[in-house]
Amino acid sequence: MPRLIVESTDTTYKALFTAWELVAAGVMRAAMRVVAHRWPAAPLSMDLPGVTPVGRNRMRWDERATAHAASSDYGFRRFADDRSYLSYAVRFDLARLGAVTGLRGIHLQCHIGTDTVSLARLGARMTGVDFSPVALGEARRLAKLACTDADFIEAEVESAADVAGEGMFDLVYTGNGALNWLPSIHRWAVAVSRLLRPGGRLFLREDHPTLWSLSDEPPDGLLTIEYPYFERPEPTAFDDPDTYVATDAVFTHTASYEWNHGLGEIISAVLDQGLTVTALEEHD
Ligand SMILES: C[S@@+](CC[C@H](N)C(=O)[O-])C[C@H]1O[C@@H](n2cnc3c(N)ncnc32)[C@H](O)[C@@H]1O
Repeated sequence: MPRLIVESTDTTYKALFTAWELVAAGVMRAAMRVVAHRWPAAPLSMDLPGVTPVGRNRMRWDERATAHAASSDYGFRRFADDRSYLSYAVRFDLARLGAVTGLRGIHLQCHIGTDTVSLARLGARMTGVDFSPVALGEARRLAKLACTDADFIEAEVESAADVAGEGMFDLVYTGNGALNWLPSIHRWAVAVSRLLRPGGRLFLREDHPTLWSLSDEPPDGLLTIEYPYFERPEPTAFDDPDTYVATDAVFTHTASYEWNHGLGEIISAVLDQGLTVTALEEHD
């Protein structure tokens, strides 16, 4: 029986913390993360003609990856100093993840590898996937610093199975600010399903889609629904010169293009691929 738990945290960052758990002839799970404020709507990239919204997002992530790796918020130093250190996200989900020892795992949208390395430290044979070569360079550096084995490959989520191998993985782990960068939740679920071996498990730990639909907190504190909750073909454009970690870095790529996917859309996309939902949690 799917479980539903709702919590809500951090008013500064207007963060929601959500966990779902589902299964694919095995299991799928999901959860959350903290998101910094965003500023609405820059127009679609007129300044870089020919660069798609996804291409613009990649430029944004390439630029931020180095600053993220250098920030104490991501804790590279702690991974190096303490061989048992795990990322906050993986620590938070330890009980939900269950035993991963010996599993062949793939981490979609692995960014700079902190969760990938953490899962490897728990005994999974991990491959991280991301479309940002800069993020992957930092992830490889982290694995080396942490003396932890993990592979990292460059691919867009939708073509991950073409690069990493079809039906090869016991565990697909993803989330923590991932789905909102993807135009189609259906194509994401197809990509996940192609990666999983029969009986494999998807663990998704993601920000709540309601969070993405809310306005930034106004002075009167009354939040409103300002952005789409359901998936739309066109992205919502934001102009955000910052990032979500402490850094003095100044960024030139300020545009981001994001797509929301409603909870029902996400679950339906997974079910449509023949996965079985074993659990769903929402918390703040
Ligand atoms: C917020 S990060 C995910 C959180 C990450 N797990 C962490 O450790 O903080 C989003 C990641 O998604 C990647 N990304 C965005 N769109 C992508 C796509 N279409 N294919 C592959 N990676 C993508 C970005 O490069 C970035 O590293």
